[in-house]
Amino acid sequence: MSNPLVLGIESTCDETGIGLVRGNELLVDRTATSMDQYARYGGIIPEIASRAHLESFLPVLESALDEAQVTLDDVDAIAVAAGPGLIGSLTVGISAAKALASSLGKPLYGVNHVIGHLAVDKLAEGPLPERFIGLVVSGGHSNILLVNDIARDIEELGGTLDDAAGEAFDKVGRLLDLPYPGGPHVDRLSQAGDREAIRFPRGLAAGKDKELHKYDFSFSGLKTAVARYIEGARQRGESVNAEDICAGFSESINDSLTAKTVRAALDTGCDTIVVGGGFSANSRLRQLITERAAAAGLTVRMPPLRFCTDNGAQIAAIGSELVRAGVSPSSYTFSPDSGMSLMQISVG
Ligand code: KG4
Ligand code: ZN
Repeated sequence: MSNPLVLGIESTCDETGIGLVRGNELLVDRTATSMDQYARYGGIIPEIASRAHLESFLPVLESALDEAQVTLDDVDAIAVAAGPGLIGSLTVGISAAKALASSLGKPLYGVNHVIGHLAVDKLAEGPLPERFIGLVVSGGHSNILLVNDIARDIEELGGTLDDAAGEAFDKVGRLLDLPYPGGPHVDRLSQAGDREAIRFPRGLAAGKDKELHKYDFSFSGLKTAVARYIEGARQRGESVNAEDICAGFSESINDSLTAKTVRAALDTGCDTIVVGGGFSANSRLRQLITERAAAAGLTVRMPPLRFCTDNGAQIAAIGSELVRAGVSPSSYTFSPDSGMSLMQISVG
């Protein structure tokens, strides 16, 4: 089927997302989030998130169908995030998807939501190249993937040995007493700072590590260096320049992410890099990867900001790639997989 109508359901974390995609065209993308309930806890509370999915699911589904002016009968296939994510949150979306698919007699695809972060780019910039390097960066992931065929064949070239990029930003946000999640606040402050004022270390960038961990990242040493810097300044009674700290910290993370991703593309003979995930909203990442890819003669594709955070459109987008490629649907017996491997695109 070349232009299937796919309903995408996303409930991996705090967003309840419903997307409808026909081929490469987005019909609608609707999201409800429970994020505003977590600021006072400084982190997501899984039980609150699960309950919020339960409350939001049907209203979000109904408003998406309304807006797209389609009915559930018109849908050719249903895709749902099977992982990675929070088990309780995933369970709500998967249960709803199974109920819809079995009652309507539609094929069901349990998909990897992280691969959806890359697939969503086709809705903004047109069909994806057959083979490309994917950089997925979020609160839980920082991985370089060799995508040979987005429906069937993905190799993981590297990833973080400790914190993910978004997670490291959130931790530095906490050190600077910024509201949760800290990532966007650290990004905002960094734009007003001097990137050269403080040089923080780059993980796995020198000596044996550089070769042994060509495409891997390590951000926990950096986070400790930032913590020490802040503590030292406070002990000496000096004022802390949060803007310069954020700028130097952001430069270290984005230098590593972009240098290794460009190297992976050159090493594998890929001429395109696709970036996705919540952290791909980061302003310095977008700037630096654009500059470095252009200098290396590579094309870089990044979804617009509205597609960076988790959404239903990304699930429908990867679902439509699976249908188009003729991949078999998932059985009705699959369970959520909180640690789903990035090489597993859909469940059997
Ligand atoms: O993909 P996502 O919505 O959820 C996960 O699957 O993790 O990513 C959320 C992460 C959070 O850590 C958040 O702080 C970070 O992405 N983030 C940012 C920015 N926008 C979101 N980090 C740095 N700069 C940003 N502009
Ligand atoms: Zn995500």
